[in-house]
Amino acid sequence: SDYTTIIAETQGRVATITLNRPEALNALNGTLVRELIDAVQGFDDDPGIGAIVLTGSAKAFAAGADIKEMAELGYADMYLDGPFPGWGGFERTRTPLIAAVGGFALGGGCELAMMCDIILAADTAKFGQPEITLGILPGFGGSQRLPRAIGKAKAADLVLTGRMMDAEEAERSGLVSRVVPADELLAEAAKVAEAIASKSLPAVYAAKDALQAAQEMPLAEGLRFERQAFAAAFATADQKEGMRAFAEKRTPDFRHR
Ligand code: HXC
Repeated sequence: SDYTTIIAETQGRVATITLNRPEALNALNGTLVRELIDAVQGFDDDPGIGAIVLTGSAKAFAAGADIKEMAELGYADMYLDGPFPGWGGFERTRTPLIAAVGGFALGGGCELAMMCDIILAADTAKFGQPEITLGILPGFGGSQRLPRAIGKAKAADLVLTGRMMDAEEAERSGLVSRVVPADELLAEAAKVAEAIASKSLPAVYAAKDALQAAQEMPLAEGLRFERQAFAAAFATADQKEGMRAFAEKRTPDFRHR
């Protein structure tokens, strides 16, 4: 394809999107975000893809929204058009997204990682919401997803001071699921993505939906959601295959149906 700010590739049932604006530490400008939404939607529409890895460079996952592009915008620009037109398309992705974070994940970069289902961090990763140092506040979900991810105390500490936290603190706080040596980050992300992509796609979609519901719904409503989704899984051929394979002590041959 003719993307200029990302690289999109596939290997088997796993897609990888690499943010690629090294001159700006992968700052999210209009072009990059448009290309990212386009690539993610394309993979999401492809039943041959079971997981998507989103990564950046060794130095930066993404250093935030592009400050130089935003600097002169006004209230109506942001309120009517932005921050990123069409972003709902990314948030509606049903395929699991795995953020593989090396280096800086700041501002919109941290928020982008938090919109993924799983965050893996290199030991070099640094997370933060430095917007306050620019005279603004998080605008891409950070003030809502960070407290849900790591609790109010630490979220307030980060959002109000603008300080960064390293990978170890991010893991301790529950923002990231694993920390690995930097040179093993992509291999680890590929392993996680392959593990997910080998499962039954309808079961994976439903599990992602249920996990999402847990972030959004009161417990009773979430439990009702899960009850229906769980029952619905018994309408798939893959449920029969998965359970027969277990009884027959063999690997299931999922058809994603
Ligand atoms: C535009 C950026 C950028 C950004 C880095 N660059 N971050 N350009 N927007 N968010 C550019 C720099 O201007 C510089 O360009 C080049 O990338 C390399 O960055 P340096 O600062 O020279 O690197 P370093 O000294 O290693 O410092 C790294 C850094 C610093 C600590 C990450 O770049 C930094 O503080 N960046 C801004 C982080 C930030 O505030 N993010 C939040 C943005 S607001 P030149 O041309 O000089 O070489 C946001 C709101 C989201 O995200 C909500 C609404 C969508």
